[in-house]
Amino acid sequence: MNQVIHPIAVATGDGLDYRLGHAEPELQRLMVQAAVLRPTTERMLRSAGIEPGMRILDVGCGAGDVAMLAADLVGPTGSVVGIDRAADGLALAKRRTQYNYPNIAFQQAGLDDYAGHGDFDMVICRYVLIHQADPVGFLRAAARLTRSGGIVAVHEISTRYLPVSEPPVALWDQIGLLLTKAISVLVPGADIALRAPRAFRDAGLPQTTMVCEMVTGRGPGALIYRWVADTCQVFMPSAQKIAPSGQALPGFDGLAERLEAAVLAADAQVATWAQVCVWAPVPR
Ligand SMILES: C[S@@+](CC[C@H](N)C(=O)[O-])C[C@H]1O[C@@H](n2cnc3c(N)ncnc32)[C@H](O)[C@@H]1O
Repeated sequence: MNQVIHPIAVATGDGLDYRLGHAEPELQRLMVQAAVLRPTTERMLRSAGIEPGMRILDVGCGAGDVAMLAADLVGPTGSVVGIDRAADGLALAKRRTQYNYPNIAFQQAGLDDYAGHGDFDMVICRYVLIHQADPVGFLRAAARLTRSGGIVAVHEISTRYLPVSEPPVALWDQIGLLLTKAISVLVPGADIALRAPRAFRDAGLPQTTMVCEMVTGRGPGALIYRWVADTCQVFMPSAQKIAPSGQALPGFDGLAERLEAAVLAADAQVATWAQVCVWAPVPR
């Protein structure tokens, strides 16, 4: 988490631009988010059949966290290629993996212009399908890069269910509602998650399995407070520029600490958005 990251300009591609950019706060947020999401992504990869020795393609690898998880699971006899359109996340991913992950290679490419040979055992991505203007085309391209009988697997977020707290914590619920609205403005594809099995079918991948989880937290030091606070810092200013209302934003200084204090004072259990994992074999 304490790596030196060089701030860089926003990088975008075709499709729905990745509107959060790749400057330092966003790359830092991706790494906190990755720590929160790792258990869910790992459960998906294991359920989808990841094994030692496999060859994996991680599309939209960002700062490299999913690629590292996959590399841990396929072991030294397997290999991972991580691709991303944006150079900035890739540079960080390379620095983070240069000594301990000889079996990961990173390459700057979009999924549609990546020159693979259709021999990957699994093509995986996390929080990438939601950014595609053409999710069916994206899944078709993923399937083309996967061997027959191999797996295409996606881990996405759904903003359909709001973050909740029990007993209710007013600050948690208020921030959760604001952020959900902001995500809907900045990520127009955020509703793809629950429709993903249909997109898989339309892409020629009809045998889907779908699992939905809530990420939850409680007690002192839970990383979920920092994730929500960092997500506010990154999303809300951009959401305000894009949103027509132009409403003033609430203050986010010390938000992680304030969220934690409020949750502890209420002895509450809190949850964020639904995590939707979908995977399917490529027909033989
Ligand atoms: C929210 S980040 C997720 C990063 C990483 N998967 C993770 O979970 O930490 C989405 C990343 O996908 C990349 N991306 C979006 N569409 C892409 C595409 N079609 N091909 C390659 N990269 C893409 C963006 O540049 C961005 O770095």
